[in-house]
Formats: sequence, C-alpha cells, structure tokens
Amino acid sequence: MKKIIRLKRPYINPKYKFMFEKGYIPYKYNILYGGTGSSKSFSLIEKLVDMCIRYSTFDILVVRKYATTLKDTVEMPWLDMISKRYINKMSGIGLVEGRDYTYNRTLKHIKFSSGSIVRFKGYDNPEKLKGIDNVNTLWLEEATDFTQSDLEDIQDRLRATPPNNHPWGTELKIFLSFNPIFKTHWIRTYFFKDAIDMSDEIHKDTVNNIVTTFALKTTWRDNHYYNGQYKDENLRKKMQEINPRKYGVQCNGNWGVLGKLIYENWEVINCNKDLSTYDGISYGLDFGFEHSTAFHEIAIKDGDIYVLRELYKPKLTANDIMKEIKRMYPNGYSNLRIYADNARPEVIEEMKRSGFSGIRPCTKGANSVLEGIEWLQDRCIYIDESCVGARNEIESYQWEKDKKTGVRLPKPVKVNDDAMDSIRYGTEGFKNNTNVRIMFC
Ligand SMILES: Nc1ncnc2c1ncn2[C@@H]1O[C@H](COP(=O)(O)OP(=O)(O)O)[C@@H](O)[C@H]1O
Ligand SMILES: [Mg+2]
Repeated sequence: MKKIIRLKRPYINPKYKFMFEKGYIPYKYNILYGGTGSSKSFSLIEKLVDMCIRYSTFDILVVRKYATTLKDTVEMPWLDMISKRYINKMSGIGLVEGRDYTYNRTLKHIKFSSGSIVRFKGYDNPEKLKGIDNVNTLWLEEATDFTQSDLEDIQDRLRATPPNNHPWGTELKIFLSFNPIFKTHWIRTYFFKDAIDMSDEIHKDTVNNIVTTFALKTTWRDNHYYNGQYKDENLRKKMQEINPRKYGVQCNGNWGVLGKLIYENWEVINCNKDLSTYDGISYGLDFGFEHSTAFHEIAIKDGDIYVLRELYKPKLTANDIMKEIKRMYPNGYSNLRIYADNARPEVIEEMKRSGFSGIRPCTKGANSVLEGIEWLQDRCIYIDESCVGARNEIESYQWEKDKKTGVRLPKPVKVNDDAMDSIRYGTEGFKNNTNVRIMFC
C-alpha cells in the first residue's frame, strides 16, 4: 500500500481522545453509550478505519440487528470516512476504490490494501454469520436492538486467532454503541451496577466488572461538530415537557424510565371538524369482535394530532363495520385512506371488494408498536369530546409492570387498547407524507 496520511489533522472530540493515543488497547467490552449525535459511531469508525489502514491484521465485523438498516447507518458512513478523511500521500487524492481498498456491495465488505477487512452483517438471520470465524473485532451498532442471547450467540460463533503481531492482542474485542432507551434493558443489568448517581443532569453509571468492561457516556454537548436540534434551548424545553423520557435518553444520555401511563400528552377538546383546515387526514381501523372494533378519523396540523371521529363497538361483523362507516360518510367512503390491522387480511379484502378502495393493511415491523407510540408521544394529541372510546382508553393505557420488581416495562398492557391501536395504525398515513411538518424527527 502506498503511504497514506490523514487528509488534515481531524478534530477528535475530547472524550474520545484516549482511543487515538499511542498504545491504546480496548477492553474486552467497550460500551459507547449516551445521547443522540454524540459522535459515538463517527469516532469509532474513525478509529477502526485508522487501524485498518495502518495494520494488516484487522478482521472487523459490524452487526446491526436488521439488515435493511446496514446500508445507510453503517456502510455509507464507513465509505464516507474512507473517501473524505484520508489522502494518499503519493497521489495527493483520497483513498481510491480498487487501489487502496475494494468494496464488495453484494458480500458487504471492505478490504483494505493493507490486508485488513471489515464486514457488515444483519442479524435478522443468525445463519448469515456462518462461516465467519476469524473476526477479532466485533461492533454491535445500536446494541439495544439485540437480545442478551444474540450477543452470547455471536460471541460463541467468533473464534478469533489473530497473529501475534495484532496490535489489540489475541482476545476478541467487542464494541457496543447505543442510546440507553430503557432502564430495564438487559444491557444495563448485564454490564452496569444497579445504582445510578443522579446528582447531575447527566447521570453517572458504574460498570459491574472494571477488568473486562469500559463504558463511555457522551451527549451531543461532547460533539464539537454537533449541528442538530438540541442546540436550540427552546426546543429542548418543549421536548422535555412533551416527552421527558425521550429527552432524558436522547439529549442527556440517561437510562429511560417509564412512568405508569403511556400517553400524558393529550387533551379532550371540541375539535374543528372542517377537514380543510388540517395538513392531512388519515383513518385507522382495528378489528375486534368480543372487544370493540375501533375506527378513527385522525388529522394532523403543525405536527399535532387530532382525533376527530370514531366508531367504537363490539360484536361487529365485516358487514356491520362497512354499514357503520358508510353511515358516518354519506357523501362517500370509497376514498377514505384507512390503515387497517394487517392481522385480518380477509376482512380488508372483503371491504376493498365492497367499495372501500382506499383501505390498506398497516405495516408492522419488529419495533413498530414502540416506534408508533414514541411518534405519538412526541406530539400533542387532541381528542374530540365525541370520541368516548379513545378518551376512556387513553386515560388508562399503561406500560406492563414487572411482577417481581414492580418496574414498568416497554410493553403496553394489552387490555382496552383497541382505540389506541386504531389511532396508531392511522398515523402511518402521516409518516410517509413528507409534506407534513414533523417535530423532533
Ligand atoms: N470528529 C468529528 N469530526 C467531524 N464531524 C464529526 C465528528 N464527530 C462527529 N461528527 C459529526 O456529528 C454527527 C453525529 O455523530 P454520530 O457519530 O452519528 O453520533 P451518534 O452515533 O453518537 O448518534 C456525525 O454525522 C458527523 O457529521
Ligand atoms: Mg450512531
């Protein structure tokens, strides 16, 4: 490899400087956690690229739980770092693909001309890690997406035998980076002592095992290059008011603590029914029989949510549901953009065939319940006086309690949640609409 130097002396954020000191050797577990935008990912990529360029022995595996997120959140930042922050001393230009490194888009790896390699994998399917065993550096990005057994299984599969001249020794080195979303998360009990020092706004944790584990907590304030929304003090105040848990996690990097109630950011009012005054309208439908079927007309304006009309009744057949909705919309129902529970495709199809052309199944993913709830928690929810089902549910919609400890877990209690589901499904229509102004996203 031709001699490579840095493009310019980069600014290394002070809290990460130790990683760039001569002779730095990571611990077995290296935890980079804290708020959003604190340079966790950037600093680690910079360090690892640096090692790959200078040494021939690095075999790095970067894993995200979901393969679909790899490209934007992992591969692109690595390639960006390689192409923008380094320069080949001989040619005077940045690292060149094909000469200084090769990037295999299909197999998802970057091979450096030094001999070092970094591979990117999704862990949706553990089988994908088969055949990879020479890895000596593992990075779980957004580690809170993984379970404890995911970490243990991945570790078990990797049997690193780096050569003696490998600068980080012969033991597998593991990096975990994440936002500390919930205090009840296994990562906290696994790596940290139970007590948290909360005397400052930024709480302090202590690791369980100081021999194997190193933890660095950072927030956006530690990132010299931070250019995001938390710089705005007014927005910070508003965010703290509307969603204190998320503010604590993303802005201050503290472990998220759940209160009893899922939504506290709501109010019952007499909503304006003139749909033309809103930025967007959408409809949600959750099917029930013993429980209520819940259907809601939802509007968005300036990022706030308005629940305008509802159907909320048990013992409705598909036919009954259609009759009721037709009655609610005597001037036409066929274009209502209804996001319906995808667990009942046959009812959705029946409604479509009967003229509800705008109905579609909602999308559900691994984290969609929590993501949907967080999206709603970030805004004010105004419920019209007439929507009794939604009003009753939202008052008591709560997080499940751990039976032993009494601590609230990030799972909604599945009782009286029909309207809550219907409203959450309905908001899908706003998330895909880029014309809608969304706060805090
Ligand atoms: N040392 C640095 N030099 C230049 N830009 C940086 C540096 N550290 C962080 N940044 C910028 O800050 C942004 C946020 O950092 P990132 O690593 O994505 O935060 P986190 O992973 O903690 O959420 C990056 O996208 C990058 O643009
Ligand atoms: Mg990151």
